[in-house]
Amino acid sequence: MTECVSEPTMTRGRAVHRRAISEPEPAESAKSSDDARLEAAEPRAAMITVCRVDQLPPGEAVRVAAVDPPIAVFHTEDGEFYAVDDTCTHQDASLADGWLEGCTVECPLHASCFDLRTGRPSGPPATTPIRTYPVVVEDGVIRVAYGEVAC
Ligand code: FES
Repeated sequence: MTECVSEPTMTRGRAVHRRAISEPEPAESAKSSDDARLEAAEPRAAMITVCRVDQLPPGEAVRVAAVDPPIAVFHTEDGEFYAVDDTCTHQDASLADGWLEGCTVECPLHASCFDLRTGRPSGPPATTPIRTYPVVVEDGVIRVAYGEVAC
């Protein structure tokens, strides 16, 4: 069962609305026989259904806590989707609560910025990149290849 909770978490600039998802939602037609073959062939690249595209408007992020470690999925104003580890590599902060600007998210705790395309921080205090994951949007459903690190 999916629980989407939209709550404004920022006051500076454009607020990123965080949605908490308790576990992946099996969307309509989310699992096909092709998916099953892919998962069987590549067990490390489990596809996680995040939510429907219309549940994640541009400028917002969703935290998927059903996986460990949790991931954050961002929908940029340009219409791109990115999935990264949700926890900042500096300390324990949720990047889904951060500020989204272009393809960059700013950590809400100490303001390190991470490039969502590469996971690299642009400056201290974080020095270690976050992992990024491939995102697939198919039939209006956002899915992440969890376990398959993109960068
Ligand atoms: S917790 Fe993210 S920069 Fe410190």
